[in-house]
Amino acid sequence: MFSVGRPVTGRSFFDRSKMVKKLVAFIDDGQDVMVKAPRRYGKTSLIKQAFKVSKKEHIYVDLRRERSLSSAAEKIVDRAYESAGMKGFAAGLKKSVVDLLGRAEKELSIDLGIVKGSVKLFEQSGEMGEEEQLAAALDNVFELAKELGVRFYIVFDEFQDIGRFGVSKDRVLDALRGTIQHHGESVSYYFLGSIETIMSEIFENRKSPFYNYCRRLTLEPFEIEEIKKDLIAAFRRKKIVFEDEGALEETLRKLCGHPANTMVVMQNLYYIALEKDIKSIGPKDLKRAYRDGYDEVLDLIEEYIGEIKARKHHHDVIYRLANSIPQELKGPALRQVFRGLENMGHITRTGRGEYRINDGYLIEYLREK
Ligand SMILES: Nc1ncnc2c1ncn2[C@@H]1O[C@H](COP(=O)(O)OP(=O)(O)OP(=O)(O)O)[C@@H](O)[C@H]1O
Ligand SMILES: [Mg+2]
Repeated sequence: MFSVGRPVTGRSFFDRSKMVKKLVAFIDDGQDVMVKAPRRYGKTSLIKQAFKVSKKEHIYVDLRRERSLSSAAEKIVDRAYESAGMKGFAAGLKKSVVDLLGRAEKELSIDLGIVKGSVKLFEQSGEMGEEEQLAAALDNVFELAKELGVRFYIVFDEFQDIGRFGVSKDRVLDALRGTIQHHGESVSYYFLGSIETIMSEIFENRKSPFYNYCRRLTLEPFEIEEIKKDLIAAFRRKKIVFEDEGALEETLRKLCGHPANTMVVMQNLYYIALEKDIKSIGPKDLKRAYRDGYDEVLDLIEEYIGEIKARKHHHDVIYRLANSIPQELKGPALRQVFRGLENMGHITRTGRGEYRINDGYLIEYLREK
């Protein structure tokens, strides 16, 4: 019922109804979109759910898992052929080009020039820069979509990692922007990323080639009212009720609407109910589920603290933020630290000089110490 650790869709997907609606509308309109949020906030889940609701296939590329930009390029072309009805393009390419062209002629009634273009892309890969190869692959996929009279939807997840392939971020962005801006007619692009300021630099900085390029969505924490309603309904389906719904709300608030942590606690709660064979959850059960959740994510929180302590003043600033103590650091130095913490995904700016810590357990940890 509650899923932890992997992206969720369908019955395991809660809250975010407005976001899903909005994203589905963008998908239906062929609008390019970027989604940014802190780690474990549900970006991948959101995009997968939106595609599920809109009943459209998408080509998904996780840049954190790719070896190189060429491997990403190959995957995109391979998936595009697959959704056109021809499986195993990349594997076929490695075996026999003649067979591959023969298959394309039989299985897809399209101009072979496009297929030859796809083959050439990978045969000549050594002659091109990797970023050029990726851009050429996207052009090729665009031609394929036009020829087939379909639209392809390409999702780049962990897009903030675009600069980690040995080619500078700026070069890759330049190459990509140069081609994808002409693809609106037949290909839509989705960019997901977690490190807030890097995503902002790419999409919100005037000097970036991606400035004002697409619609931007920021994923907020769960909305307490909506998630509460969804959770009560989910437990009710299992014939389990909450003795005190106010206590549930209090727990959800303590978690700051953090999606991954909230699900850890709800899963714990469900197992407690099963283990004790109870049909009514009391405040004590909630407390235990919350505490157990804290113990489970403690390693991760300590890892965060280690990273925070490795940077000058960062720990002092976030400690004061968690404990509502006035900041000692002032002016540009303070702004720089806030930016650093934002960069790490731990805080989000909520107003002029105002920030919130994204993870309720991190707040708890900082208050205890
Ligand atoms: N809408 C949701 N409904 C239920 N659980 C969710 C939702 N969004 C996120 N979660 C929970 O958070 C976890 C992380 O979600 P997901 O992998 O989608 O986040 P992410 O932002 O893509 O994370 P990462 O930064 O690690 O890529 C999920 O395993 C699930 O437990
Ligand atoms: Mg993700």
